Amino acid sequence: MEKRASWSGKWAFILAAAASAVGLGNMWRFPYLAAKYGGGTFLITYLVLVFTFGVSLLLLETALGRKTGQSAIGAFSSFGKKYTFIGVLASAVPFIITPYYCIIGGWVTKYMVSYLGAGPEALADGGEFFTGFITSNVESYIWMLVFMVLVFVVVGLGVKGGIEKANLVMMPALIVMAIAIAIYTLTMPGAIDGALYYLTPDFSKFSPELVISALGQMFYSLSLAMGIMITYGSYMRKQDSLTSSVVRIGGFDIGVSFLAGLMIVPAAFVAMGSGEAVAGSAGPSLMFITLPSVFVDMEGMAAVIGFVFFLLVLFAALTSAISLTETLVSIVQDGLKCTRAKALGIVIAFVVVVGAFINAGYNGLAFIEPLGAGTSMLDFADFISNSVMMPIVALLTCIFVGWIVKPKAIIDEVRVSSKFSAAGAWTVMIKYVAPVLVIVILVAYVAAQFG
Ligand code: PFF
Repeated sequence: MEKRASWSGKWAFILAAAASAVGLGNMWRFPYLAAKYGGGTFLITYLVLVFTFGVSLLLLETALGRKTGQSAIGAFSSFGKKYTFIGVLASAVPFIITPYYCIIGGWVTKYMVSYLGAGPEALADGGEFFTGFITSNVESYIWMLVFMVLVFVVVGLGVKGGIEKANLVMMPALIVMAIAIAIYTLTMPGAIDGALYYLTPDFSKFSPELVISALGQMFYSLSLAMGIMITYGSYMRKQDSLTSSVVRIGGFDIGVSFLAGLMIVPAAFVAMGSGEAVAGSAGPSLMFITLPSVFVDMEGMAAVIGFVFFLLVLFAALTSAISLTETLVSIVQDGLKCTRAKALGIVIAFVVVVGAFINAGYNGLAFIEPLGAGTSMLDFADFISNSVMMPIVALLTCIFVGWIVKPKAIIDEVRVSSKFSAAGAWTVMIKYVAPVLVIVILVAYVAAQFG
């Protein structure tokens, strides 16, 4: 068998984990959740959750990966065959996410290119452009494939030669572009009021629903409960500190989400005129329909801002899709005991076929409405993976480590490379607090969907 891949050092790991974390979840989902749930109130809740629950789970997963030296399935089964199913369930999540993530990646690529070609006016037509594109029988598939090819090339070049290098270019570029666009948007007339709406806590908006949404967002954004951080931990060296790494990853992810909100919420505020209007209309269309209508008014700058904005979102989406695909490759490689090249071939075939099938949910197979009228197969894939499977995997993982393996095994692994003074609090989190919170999310989400 080929030797297992590994990171070239601690910073490569932090960058890769941050690149996996920072994605469409930060750029597209976080701003509309923040807008919907009263700005500052959501920000504070999210911050608290990331630095308690989120970082605890990140630490658990990376330590489990490094301790066992295996990706999710092997990691769980190394404690007994009967635990293999937890790893299988965790590994199933990226198999569902990757194909539909690439579809949205295709939309972003199409928008970016359209700012150069069709121009800002064509994109700002109140949604017709967007609907026309996703329902097209040929074009939507082509852009999905374009995005996929970019991802496959980088993964094909390997962990050090492809993924690390791509992250090293795309992540800093992403940050610079995000800061530049946030500054530019804040100079638009009326944008400061939008920024105040985003930043000022409105505690009357605090609700159980807000906490539940923030938790769901946190799982997705930190790439938790899907075997990714276990795999990434397994590539880590014994001498690199896990505690400082996970705190940095959490901080980086939240920093980018915050910046994304600062770009998008004030811009939407300018377009809609009030916080209530933004909150009322906040949803997935914020990025593809509302924002282009804001960009078009930036005289002289519309095409540039639109292009740079979608380029930065593309970078975020690409680095995440690369990490998702790498996880699939490592699962297949470990599962079939085959070469990396063969595993990649299988993964490419899977992602292309399933991606095309899910994409058909907007055109050829649009009559399939899995979650009720107006819903798509992409909505279904998103719902099953994020709202059902991820909480279940998180719950099982916490119970597994808290009650079966026992926290000491993980604490010992963490202590191989650093001090861990919060071990007591961490144990309480994993044994009691996290399982209860996760059950609450799970019940609430499913009830909201079918209730
Ligand atoms: N964390 C990514 C985001 O916020 O968009 C989504 C994601 C990426 C999930 C990579 C899983 C993953 F492996």
